[in-house]
Amino acid sequence: MKKQNVIFSLAAITALLFACSKRQAEELKPAAPTGPTAVTTANVTYSNFAGALFQTKCNSCHGPNGALKSVWLFNGLASIKNDTRVANAVLVTKTMPKGGSLTTSERELLQAWVDKGMPE
Ligand code: HEC
Repeated sequence: MKKQNVIFSLAAITALLFACSKRQAEELKPAAPTGPTAVTTANVTYSNFAGALFQTKCNSCHGPNGALKSVWLFNGLASIKNDTRVANAVLVTKTMPKGGSLTTSERELLQAWVDKGMPE
């Protein structure tokens, strides 16, 4: 093989390898960010924060199978929006969640969400 051909072949193989690894890297990259995005007081919503909070902190007692569902039934956003006692119990009197608690940052995010008018 001529020296020129050897150099050409090596260049071609190298180019091919780079093209492959580049394509693989692109395929591995997700189209849209799917990981947890930071929730802040600026972007807090029912879907990215509040819903999960009520689900984990209230549902055991106030969910459809909870013993306290007759006092307040948690079954989605409307059940919070349409009952002023909810924000009051959690943020003002702080009697809820009974037997549990919220962290300072959870309370801040929830307060911001209430102040914004409880966006979905
Ligand atoms: C361990 C059970 C339990 C959990 C968890 C719990 N609650 Fe309650 N909740 C109660 C009980 C018991 C009452 C009845 C009133 C009382 O004992 O204070 C009550 C009453 C209420 C009331 C009616 C209060 C009023 O002013 O009349 C609301 C609203 C409420 N809870 C909201 C919540 C919210 C929101 C959460 C979650 C952040 C939550 N609760 C978590 C047990 C619970």
